[in-house]
Amino acid sequence: MSYVTAVLNQKGGTGKTTTTVNLGAALAYQGYRTLLVDLDPQGHTTIGLGIEPEAIRESMAEVMTVPKKRIQEVAMNTYILGLDVAPATIHLARAAEQVYTRVFREAILAQALTGLDYEFIFIDCPPSLGVLTTNSLYACDFILIPCQISRYSLDGLADLLTTIDSIKNLGVEELFQENIFRILLTMFDKRNRVTNEYILEQLKPYGDKTFNTKVMKNEALNQAQIAQKAIFDFDPRSSGAQDYLHLTTEFLEIWRKRNSLPASPPSLQSCR
Ligand SMILES: Nc1ncnc2c1ncn2[C@@H]1O[C@H](COP(=O)(O)OP(=O)(O)OP(=O)(O)O)[C@@H](O)[C@H]1O
Ligand SMILES: [Mg+2]
Repeated sequence: MSYVTAVLNQKGGTGKTTTTVNLGAALAYQGYRTLLVDLDPQGHTTIGLGIEPEAIRESMAEVMTVPKKRIQEVAMNTYILGLDVAPATIHLARAAEQVYTRVFREAILAQALTGLDYEFIFIDCPPSLGVLTTNSLYACDFILIPCQISRYSLDGLADLLTTIDSIKNLGVEELFQENIFRILLTMFDKRNRVTNEYILEQLKPYGDKTFNTKVMKNEALNQAQIAQKAIFDFDPRSSGAQDYLHLTTEFLEIWRKRNSLPASPPSLQSCR
């Protein structure tokens, strides 16, 4: 059975795609079969792993609109062994409009994700709370919320949690008790002491719902996206690579606790 994580925040530019690509790549390098579902018409996860729009025959647009279209039919290998992408192109924006007319429209993705042969699946969501995001919430076991450190970064978090609450059909207490969601602080800059203190204070109620790992602001992560590579292949010594490796370890701990599993065997491939 696959463990499905939605990477989501309705705010733009918080590090969703960077996190999807690098967490996915780290897991694949550690020997886990991993699928990244690009559910954003911007297609940044797709492009970020070197798949150009011209190379895509079918994509998530078909999965969301053509009845019984299977993810296996659209998934593509990336240059990383064990890491596949179900790609997105701009056509997904149009497809999302058509989804509104389909029955059980919130469950289309969940249906399409059944019976896949991956250990981990990540869904890179668009920056909105529209039908694509609700599909990902419906389909996922876990929600990873990247938040950029800024004065307004936590605005909208309450709305997001209310949406999660209603789709997962949980009370607030359950939502906080279960291992359902975690906030990831991204683009953290130690020099911005006042802003950081403010945000960390605001986050206190979410203390144990925030990853210990903070992803520091790191230009190499930005450049890796431009170079269409995971950070481990672009600059493995960068702080970005180290931060995403720590995040991977923390993520695996949550997954093991949830499944009551012992520590995994040593990695099959190591991050370069
Ligand atoms: N830790 C970081 N340090 C420096 N730059 C970063 C970091 N994380 C992400 N970036 C850069 O910030 C920009 C936004 O990141 P990203 O594309 O991951 O956000 P997003 O939440 O997926 O955006 P969108 O909402 O548009 O999908 C990108 O140019 C990315 O390279
Ligand atoms: Mg993105």
